[in-house]
Amino acid sequence: RLQGFRAAFIHYAGVAHHSDEIAGQLRYLPDGLLLIADGKVVSLAPWTGREDVPEGCVFTDYQGRLIMPGFIDTHIHYPQTEMIAAYGEQLLEWLEQYTFPVESKYGDSEYASAMAAFFIRQLFSHGTTTALVFASVHPESVDALFREAQKYAMRIIAGKVMMDRHVPAALQEDPAESARQTRELIERWHGKGRLGYAITPRFVPTSSPALMEQAGALRREYPDVWMQTHLSENLREIEWVSELYPEHDSYLGVYDHYRLTGKRSVFAHCIHLQDQEWTCLQQTGSSVAFCPSSNLFLGSGLFKLSAAKARKIPVGIGTDVGAGTSFSLLRTLGDAYKVQQLQSYKLNACEAFYHSTLGGAHALDLDNVIGNFAPGKEADFIVVDLKATPLQKLRCAGSQDITDQLFVLMTLGDERNITHTWVNGECVWAQGETQENDHAI
Ligand code: GUN
Ligand code: FE
Repeated sequence: RLQGFRAAFIHYAGVAHHSDEIAGQLRYLPDGLLLIADGKVVSLAPWTGREDVPEGCVFTDYQGRLIMPGFIDTHIHYPQTEMIAAYGEQLLEWLEQYTFPVESKYGDSEYASAMAAFFIRQLFSHGTTTALVFASVHPESVDALFREAQKYAMRIIAGKVMMDRHVPAALQEDPAESARQTRELIERWHGKGRLGYAITPRFVPTSSPALMEQAGALRREYPDVWMQTHLSENLREIEWVSELYPEHDSYLGVYDHYRLTGKRSVFAHCIHLQDQEWTCLQQTGSSVAFCPSSNLFLGSGLFKLSAAKARKIPVGIGTDVGAGTSFSLLRTLGDAYKVQQLQSYKLNACEAFYHSTLGGAHALDLDNVIGNFAPGKEADFIVVDLKATPLQKLRCAGSQDITDQLFVLMTLGDERNITHTWVNGECVWAQGETQENDHAI
């Protein structure tokens, strides 16, 4: 039955993923046989031990490891990579003092290309195979990122930040010019292979009504393009929005007025929402990126996962590097658990890994192409060592239960647990192998 495939691989390992049919239900095969060909999943079945490897198939034995779908990071800033761990400030001062000066460097194509290469290697080494990414205001930064992603046939969605006020002069745009550059980038990159474009107004405080108009018009012109922005992260930010747009009764109301809500719209943070904003997210089919590490680091607040769940709003997980403090979705899930604990909500491992894989795909409206091992899905996956450290080994020694082991993974785990990362049916990263990109700049 393998005849006719250009290349087929068989992977033998434990396999854990979420089924398409029941959101949040984890399927686990202690001995699984994953067949992939032409970059897609052919089948996943229990390993019987009697399989013959068909001629021409490359057989890879990952026995003792766990295969999972690659992580999906639904909110991250690539031009903030080098300013991660910036001390002392909350959102607005943090942006002024640290973020804007660093993002200013990304108008230089050569610099942006070097950082894009480093950034994508960071994603892979941390087990992330798809990301929704903010570039800088410069179109060159988007070109650099997409060119690098293209080398690996990586599924990535990105956009140039649009902003036309309350930013340093060097980063400030004219709304019409911002829209013109965005349109050019969409035409150049959107739908090319596995690349997607996201219209990216930074947030309301840096957007004039004219810029919001332009973003909304682009949205209508390109209905299958994504939209990403920030929403209701910090109390002073929210107060500022109400001063800038007094005619609107909520923060989300501003985006909604300019028709930036809807399917394929991803709002990062959503911490201090009013009831009507939750309802608006739900009614428009918009998605949320939950960024727990960033929310703790900037002292922004606690995201109400249970409120999103009650309304069936799609929720992905975002590292939000550089406000987030790690590229690791595992570490981010560890923080997600603690943020929910502070609100008496028990985030179990099954639900946590759902949000970082199939649930993230759903939040990006990509659950028909990535997020699990259903036949025909794109073959993006990671190989995990559940016992990468002496402490993990000790803790897992007596554990037979996969959900307990996955809880240990999200609580104690990080990039040390990721031994291989596969994208589009190719191994793009293996622990211990280094490239010059790993030591950029
Ligand atoms: N709000 C507007 N811009 C940003 C940013 O770069 N990071 C975060 N965390 N919030 C923002
Ligand atoms: Fe952000």
